[in-house]
Amino acid sequence: MTRAARCTIEVVADAGRSTLADDVRVGLTLRPRTLPPKHLYDARGAALFERITRTPEYYVTRTEQGLLDEVAPEIAASVARAYRHINGAPTDLVELGSGAGRKTRALIEALQRHTPVRYVPFDVSGEMLRASAERLLSEYPERFTVHGLVADYTRDLARLPPSSGRLVAFLGSTIGNFTEEGAVAFLAGVARAMSGADRLLVGFDLVKAPAVIDAAYNDAEGITAAFNRNVLVVVNRELDADFDVDAFAHCARYVPERARVEMHLQATRDVEARIGALGLSVRMPEGEAIRTEISRKFTEPRVRTLYARAGLALERWFESPDGYFGLALGARMEG
Ligand code: SAH
Ligand code: TRP
Repeated sequence: MTRAARCTIEVVADAGRSTLADDVRVGLTLRPRTLPPKHLYDARGAALFERITRTPEYYVTRTEQGLLDEVAPEIAASVARAYRHINGAPTDLVELGSGAGRKTRALIEALQRHTPVRYVPFDVSGEMLRASAERLLSEYPERFTVHGLVADYTRDLARLPPSSGRLVAFLGSTIGNFTEEGAVAFLAGVARAMSGADRLLVGFDLVKAPAVIDAAYNDAEGITAAFNRNVLVVVNRELDADFDVDAFAHCARYVPERARVEMHLQATRDVEARIGALGLSVRMPEGEAIRTEISRKFTEPRVRTLYARAGLALERWFESPDGYFGLALGARMEG
């Protein structure tokens, strides 16, 4: 098969930007002011995130990668066991929020020892998704196909292609960017989209020394700061606004009582901005902040509770040797 024949990419109408106007109208009007994280990932934001993953302070990516490399064969064997009745049909590796799709190789290679693989990257960032599909197709010429979805995983899970068996992966502790209630609702939606034999693998960043976490979200080079501020660049461009991006400081702080990082953009002087597309003016006195992101940190018992609330059974729990990161393999609860 030619490479083009092995690759389908579906773009769900309006993925991503559709909710920006509403999110900004509501988020910047209510107190505390908030902007949802989905809008951090335009092409520039996605590229900045890639650079964050390579900073020395951001332990998350390399720890998860090391763990995945280690346990992918066991995960693939569990998936193959769940599917032993299916002969020769490809297994879908669905990756929600796939980004650059770099971590996925370990899973693809481990699954390929058991079955042909169809990779199903699912991300709002179309540029990244296309680039990673191209790269993987050239690396895996045999028995490997791609069906990508440029779509919103909080809305479009019903658009997943029909499949004879799936491993759904949600890596990078992106689950930590939801509130507890949001994570339950999201995982319950994933569970509904799964068959009884499908498996779900979620990466969880774990509770650890606050200084280690603080450093990861305050890299010395200032890439995380640029990433955080990029949300205002997006609002300026997409909604005809005139925020002075340099008037906002990046603040990220781990709050141990809540086991989460809270990320803000804080006005360093009085700010007035006009959001043309919404006919809205925003005035922020010096010191006021917009919350842009939370990043929750977990423990195994909390993951177990979260899974149960979402109708998922935790089958296997893997942890990195330093206890920094966990991978939860689960299935839909029966009944
Ligand atoms: N899985 C990668 C990337 C994590 S960054 C890793 O572990 O390094 C989070 C990814 O989720 C980004 O690529 C972003 O574009 C995507 N994303 C964020 N919100 C989304 C949404 N609502 N629907 C689909 N993708 C989303
Ligand atoms: N899922 C990532 C995390 O929680 C997202 C992330 C990393 C992030 N660094 C960030 C989001 C900085 C906003 C700003 O670790």
